[in-house]
Amino acid sequence: MLVEIDRGSAEPLHRQLTAGLRDAVRSGRLAPTSRMPSTRVLADDLGVSRRLVVEVYTQLIAEGFLTSAHGAGTFVADIDTNTHAEAADDHHVTRYEVDFGTGLPDLRSFPRDRWLRALRHGLSRLPSESLGYVAPQGLPDTRQAIAGYLQRTRGIAADPGQIVLCSGATQGLGLLAQVLRERGDGTIAMEEPGFWLHRIVLRRNGIDPLPLPVDDHGFDIAALRASPARVALTTPAHQCPTGVVMTAQRRADLLDWARDGNLIIEDDYDAEYRFDRRPIGALQGLAADRVICMGTASKTLAPGLRIGWLVLPPALVDAVTLSKGIADSGNSVMDQVAFAELLDSGDYDRHLRQMRRRYASRRSTLLTMLGEHLPAATVSGAAAGIQLAAVFPDGYDVEELVRRAATSRVHVESTRPFYAHRAGAPPGLLLNYANVTESQIITGMTILGRIARQL
Ligand SMILES: Cc1ncc(COP(=O)(O)O)c(C=O)c1O
Repeated sequence: MLVEIDRGSAEPLHRQLTAGLRDAVRSGRLAPTSRMPSTRVLADDLGVSRRLVVEVYTQLIAEGFLTSAHGAGTFVADIDTNTHAEAADDHHVTRYEVDFGTGLPDLRSFPRDRWLRALRHGLSRLPSESLGYVAPQGLPDTRQAIAGYLQRTRGIAADPGQIVLCSGATQGLGLLAQVLRERGDGTIAMEEPGFWLHRIVLRRNGIDPLPLPVDDHGFDIAALRASPARVALTTPAHQCPTGVVMTAQRRADLLDWARDGNLIIEDDYDAEYRFDRRPIGALQGLAADRVICMGTASKTLAPGLRIGWLVLPPALVDAVTLSKGIADSGNSVMDQVAFAELLDSGDYDRHLRQMRRRYASRRSTLLTMLGEHLPAATVSGAAAGIQLAAVFPDGYDVEELVRRAATSRVHVESTRPFYAHRAGAPPGLLLNYANVTESQIITGMTILGRIARQL
């Protein structure tokens, strides 16, 4: 947030907002001459009336902190902020003003009331024996609710008996790695670039993944065929990090490869978000005996829940369930009960509908701001997910941009860690737009643009 508003404070809101903005200008967090968010946008972000924001802007214009050009909007006044900025930096070294850090949905919008209602309702009906050491695979009602949801939204053909709940997709991948290695399927191909954490998880479980290229059509299946891999870990719905959606031809080629006795691990981590058309269904629906689908509530609700699942070919269910039981005896029953209830009541879909609208709008603001402030960048991939990749021309010093942004308390991440072969990584940024407000996007991009022009 540009400013924090404390609703529990005795200090009136307009005074808090005026003081917060004054401080932001003095400390340089609001860059001199940058455009302020419109009164409507800021009022929406803060959940206050527009009239209040108009009043505050008028006050700050009168005090000389803001300027207004008739008809052109409101701007931060061009005052010397250097000394203030240095002092402020000493106090807030780790706290980012604008955080485009990847992987997070809008945490402020977690549906707390709906979750509490779901938990109360589910718990009141839960038989006492379900609070004991229950099946590590997951409660039958929860697996049933997930199976129904996946069938409806992702075209996944899942019997609840094929689902194993796990502590996020991350644990699911670790369990799978153990089981596949034991079975002798230890050669796993991974997308290059691909999610760096998955590379670490596989290595930790004794598997050194084979990096194979991704292009504008998705995973390179010819390279996969030519490799010794028996298992392929891929993100067909929305490649991480490039954002590419796997083309129909590549999907068909990948399924052909799998039918020759191989396995696909389909990481369906953010497939709920597609803004330009209906999302394509999961590969699992086309070859349920050859595809393991990994899903998660980390992008739809919150990563802190640690709710994820594996949809497995029947032959793998027992071994993965055994590994899950040894790892932690199963997911929290409380969370399973609430999650099942949230799915069955329709509240999960309602929450997602709200989030889709919000993320589409934030994405579009980010695209506009990128065009204005980082014109050297090209956005890759489809209008989907909760983050986008911006690719820069060869030789562009993205790492320096990231470092300098951090000193202005703007957090952005380079795409370089996603490459197993870092030396050949093209310069790029992965920008999350789900967990930043529109005014933060405007502020953050304005600061990035200023830094980029100095580079
Ligand atoms: C590519 C990818 N897969 C899966 C996940 C989900 O991980 P988890 O469910 O463990 O939170 C993420 C989260 O950042 C991700 O980026």
